[in-house]
Amino acid sequence: MESTTEAVRRSLRAGQIVAFTGAGISAESHVPTFRGVDGLWRNYSPERLATAEAFASDPRLVWEWYDWRRQIIHKAQPNSGHQALAEIERRATGSFTLVTQNVDGLHDRAGSRNVVKLHGDIWWVRCTGCAAEEQNQQVPLKPLPPHCHCGALLRPAVVWFGEALPESAWERAHEAATQADVFMAIGTSAQVYPAAGLVQVARQSGAHVAIVNPDPTPADELAEWVLRGPAGEILPRLL
Ligand code: OAD
Repeated sequence: MESTTEAVRRSLRAGQIVAFTGAGISAESHVPTFRGVDGLWRNYSPERLATAEAFASDPRLVWEWYDWRRQIIHKAQPNSGHQALAEIERRATGSFTLVTQNVDGLHDRAGSRNVVKLHGDIWWVRCTGCAAEEQNQQVPLKPLPPHCHCGALLRPAVVWFGEALPESAWERAHEAATQADVFMAIGTSAQVYPAAGLVQVARQSGAHVAIVNPDPTPADELAEWVLRGPAGEILPRLL
């Protein structure tokens, strides 16, 4: 284990680095993941809460769920894993891109700069009428569901099941994956596409792939290095 850690640490000293994160990196900040033992999708139905159809049929229910998650995230603090990634970026001599599937904003709060958000941002809202987007950090949100000044309903500016990823974010992420010398997949079950496909893109483009996760994932077979354990413990060792 120590020599794998050392190999990954050395690989981060130069070249083009991509960190690709999922809900697991925020687990130690007490933000629930989606698919673990206490994962959100064990207790809540994605069809009723995270689709455009669900929002059309019951916007208040969907907003209550997002408002509840915003309250949890608002209380959360970035952990040592988020902080280590911000520090790796500060020390990077080549390029560093942090591609995240998370909507919680904890990477920003930890000081990461070059962050690509593939699944949107829970702290932004988008008008279902005029399509205007704005930041909204009110916790809790009142009234629910919120409305735009144009009169139409606002929705969370996140990607729901069945929706396309934001085009420019996807292009930036894909480009970074193809250019990467090192691609680290951290805290993701690597099951949700197209995001999960970036591991393969990076591997096929010649990147060294590292995985940081306490549990096995389908992406492990693409990895040169698998670091088993919580991100908050493993990532600081890579500094
Ligand atoms: P998942 O909930 O699917 O997976 C979380 C991963 O984190 C699992 O592989 C865990 O083993 C791992 N994990 C748990 N604790 C960890 C820790 N302390 N350190 C490191 N890893 C840990 O979350 P995602 O892969 O992010 O989509 O899920 C992908 C997408 O599915 C999400 O972005 C969301 C969801 O539906 C949308 O909202 C569009």
